[in-house]
Amino acid sequence: MKSKRTVLCIESSFDDTGIAILDFDFQTSVSLLSSSAELHSPYGGVVPEIAARDHIRNLPIMLKQLLSRENKALETVSCLGVTRGPGLPGCLLAGVSFARGVAQALSVPLYGLNHLYGHLFSPFFGLREKEIPFPFLGLVVTGGNTALYLVNGLQSIELLGETLDDSAGELFDKIAFKLNLGYPGGARLEEEAKKVQGRQVPREFILPIPMRESEDLNFSFSGLKTAALRLISRLGISCSSNALPWLASSLQQSVWESLWLKLIKAVNLTGAKHVAVSGGVAANQLLRDFLTHKSETEAITFHFPKARLCTDNAEMMAYLLLLYVGRGMEPEPFDIDANLV
Ligand code: KG4
Repeated sequence: MKSKRTVLCIESSFDDTGIAILDFDFQTSVSLLSSSAELHSPYGGVVPEIAARDHIRNLPIMLKQLLSRENKALETVSCLGVTRGPGLPGCLLAGVSFARGVAQALSVPLYGLNHLYGHLFSPFFGLREKEIPFPFLGLVVTGGNTALYLVNGLQSIELLGETLDDSAGELFDKIAFKLNLGYPGGARLEEEAKKVQGRQVPREFILPIPMRESEDLNFSFSGLKTAALRLISRLGISCSSNALPWLASSLQQSVWESLWLKLIKAVNLTGAKHVAVSGGVAANQLLRDFLTHKSETEAITFHFPKARLCTDNAEMMAYLLLLYVGRGMEPEPFDIDANLV
C-alpha cells in the first residue's frame, strides 16, 4: 500500500475537462486537459449541452489515461476535489457526479471547490500558505467572469466588484467571432495587436474606456462591444483588412485601461500592495506589460500565473485543495452552484 500523499481534482465548469493529481510537496504528478473549444467554434460561443456531453465522455477516458501513466496513482490519493461552481449547470453536474463516484470508490473525502478561487490563487501555485503575500487584490479575468477580490487570507475573501454584463474575455470572443477570427478569439486579437505594438492608435480607432466615471469597483464591457461593432461596420473592417491590428490594439487598450482604473481605485481603498491577475485573459503578454509598466510608478507588485494555469485547468484547483488540506479544513456537504462568486 502506497502512502496517502496526493490530492486529485476534477474541473469541468465550462468547456475544458481537467484532471490533476498534486503531491503534498506541491509537485504535479499528473495533469490532463481536454478542450472542447473546437466543437463550439462554429457557434462563436460555448454550447452548454455539447460541453456537458463532452465532459461525460472525457472524464472516464481521462481517468483511465491517468492510470495508464501511473498505475498506482489512485492509491496515493488522500482526498478529492471538484469544481462546484460557477459554471454551466450541466457541466458542473457532469464533474460533480463523476467525482462523487470516484470518491466513494476510493473511500476518500470529497471537497466542493469554487472555480474562481482556483484562479485567484493560481499566480501563487507551488507556494505554501505562509508564503502567499496576504492581503492581496485578486483580479480574475476569464471568458465568463471579470471579478475583483480582496483576499485577506485563505478563508477571508471579499468580492469588491464584478462585471455587470459581459466579461472581458467574452468581449474579445464576440468581436473575434464577428471578424471570422475563430473562437475563442482573445489570443488571435493579441496577435493582431502585437503587429502595431508600441505605436499610437490613430484617432479614428479610439474606443471608449468603460466605467471611467463610475464610483464603484464593478466592470462593464457590453457598451465597449457595441462601440467596437459600430467601428467595424463604419470602417468596413474584416479579418483581412490592414485596419485589423489597429482595432485589436485599440480594443485591448480600452479593456486594460478599464481594468487598471478599477484596480488602482481598489489599491487606494484597501492599501493592498500585491495584485494577482488570473484567468484566460491574464495569458495576454500585452496586458502583463501594460500592468507591469503601470506598477513602476505605483509601488504595486503584480503576480501572474504560468501560461498553462491561465485557462481552466485542474492543477490550480488541486493547488487550492492542497492549501485547504494544509490548513486542516474539513470537507462540507455541497451541491453545484452555477452562480457562485
Ligand atoms: O475562461 P478561461 O479562463 O478558461 C477557459 O474557458 O478555458 O479563458 C478563456 C478566455 C477566452 O475568453 C479567451 O478569448 C481568453 O480567455 N484568452 C485571451 C488570451 N488567451 C485566452 N484573451 C486575451 N489574450 C489572450 N492571449
